[in-house]
Amino acid sequence: MCGIVGVVGNTNATDILIQGLEKLEYRGYDSAGIFVLGGAENHLVKAVGRIAELSAKTAGVEGTTGIGHTRWATHGKPTEDNAHPHRSETERFVLVHNGVIENYLEIKEEYLAGHHFKGQTDTEIAVHLIGKFAEEDGLSVLEAFKKALHIIRGSYAFALVDSQDPEVIYVAKNKSPLLIGLGDGYNMVCSDAMAMIRETNQYMEIHDQELVIVKADSVEVQDYDGNRRERASYTAELDLSDIGKGTYPYYMLKEIDEQPTVMRKLINTYSDENQQMVVDPEIVKAVQEADRIYIIAAGTSYNAGYASKTMLEELTDTPVELGIASEWGYAMPLLSKKPMFILLSQSGETADSRQVLVKANEMGIPSLTVTNVSGSTLSREATYTMLLHAGPEIAVASTKAYTGQVATLAFLAKAVGEANGNEKAKKFDLVRELSIVAQSIESTLSEKELIEEKVRGLLETTRNAFYIGRGQDYYVVMEASLKLKEISYIQCEGFAAGELKHGTISLIEDGTPVIALISDNPTVASHTRGNISEVVARGANALTIVEEGIEKEGDDIIINKVHPYLSSISMVIPTQLIAYYASLHRGLDVDKPRNLAKAVTVE
Ligand code: F6R
Repeated sequence: MCGIVGVVGNTNATDILIQGLEKLEYRGYDSAGIFVLGGAENHLVKAVGRIAELSAKTAGVEGTTGIGHTRWATHGKPTEDNAHPHRSETERFVLVHNGVIENYLEIKEEYLAGHHFKGQTDTEIAVHLIGKFAEEDGLSVLEAFKKALHIIRGSYAFALVDSQDPEVIYVAKNKSPLLIGLGDGYNMVCSDAMAMIRETNQYMEIHDQELVIVKADSVEVQDYDGNRRERASYTAELDLSDIGKGTYPYYMLKEIDEQPTVMRKLINTYSDENQQMVVDPEIVKAVQEADRIYIIAAGTSYNAGYASKTMLEELTDTPVELGIASEWGYAMPLLSKKPMFILLSQSGETADSRQVLVKANEMGIPSLTVTNVSGSTLSREATYTMLLHAGPEIAVASTKAYTGQVATLAFLAKAVGEANGNEKAKKFDLVRELSIVAQSIESTLSEKELIEEKVRGLLETTRNAFYIGRGQDYYVVMEASLKLKEISYIQCEGFAAGELKHGTISLIEDGTPVIALISDNPTVASHTRGNISEVVARGANALTIVEEGIEKEGDDIIINKVHPYLSSISMVIPTQLIAYYASLHRGLDVDKPRNLAKAVTVE
């Protein structure tokens, strides 16, 4: 949440900041701002709304150094006063921040009596504190920043400038992501590498509770006591073309369309030319040794965990339990004797998941992060990592990461199962089955017009809707309903089809949309069809998505048959398109739904 950029020592500072913020807009988009210095005068520019509003106000803003921020509000409404950057009491120090300062009210009370604040943010209190130590107590900027860092509790990525000194940006981080980008004769700061990939592919990590002094020609990493730390740079494997929309109207549609490619990429990554699994033997061994697998995740990733549960259990002979990251972070249940944690996370930065990982590490529990972002926090801090290789996912609504997660876990399940001698795992021809899935996705993608038409009739004006399904389809409807509510703002619930009659069916009235998913198992299918009849008898407007082979006359969308372990991939595709078209036809911003942000780095 919130995106930070900074640059020191480049005459195009304003342009670099605005371009960087545009790339980070997915992290938060309710207001934005930049502070630019090192030119004829210093400039603070802020705007409520998108980066385009900010950009429109930057004519004539020139300088060599600056910091910028795009905000996802945590403290105070999205107003210009609450937008970052924030300034100290005398306006000498200027700060941008991503995260949440837990003790900001105590700090205000204890240290900042008599100070005047323009907004309600925790960040403004932090920069006043730094300013107080430097100007009222006479500390150097560095000492003042360090002293403040010793006092501040919570999560933060900070970029600080002294408006009297365009030669340096001071940064520090704890729990929130921040990287240094290394330019040619200048250096940068950014929340993720995508923001600066136009300028450089050379980056340097910052660890928690480190402070970095960034100048045009040097980068010095220290701990909060001033001890220097050596840090090597690394090359980010990102391509500028990966982060463009091409001819697509929205990233979400592009990312939905990329899913067959993601499936094939995963086949090439996790199997060899003889179709043998290529999964790190250390990871296989760690899972083999576990008596229970705990999948920890949030939102769509949590749903992907459920979608993979049966497959993992049947192939590895190990029970799988799901944990909502935001719950487990502070209420870890009784664990088995030899647990193994799998952190599922597209971004690899989700604060809730990280909180659980920190605890797991303290308890000495082995962990595997399955993520799309190499070098992300969850990847760095877990024992092992498997990457999704899905390419950057920029639309806030996750699509290709979900299908990539299920497919990646399929490779893990098969590799562990084979190592265990599990018969089902030996027989499960994953490479072939995943190729069939890729074809099935392509076939569904070729039915976009049909799906769009169905959505027009069903979801254009409704306020609520239901998804129902049984077994594996139940797990998919959890994701389908999340996707629909997230971007169309239709209140939607995903239900186990048999549960409706135990209460929720009272909500069904004339015209209520009910979308049913039916795959694979004919007995289960016939029960779900019974549930459809029950809701139709009460006035529901039903739409069926059915796997071929068990379709009936009148079914709406037919999906090519795939292996039951992988049906959550093929069955989710039409529901992604349904959410997309519902959002589009309701005139909403598909890629940037209200109140949300892509990487959720606050707890
Ligand atoms: C919904 C969505 C979110 C994320 C959740 C976890 O489309 O994207 O529900 O799945 O915030 O994020 P990651 O997977 O980055 O840990």
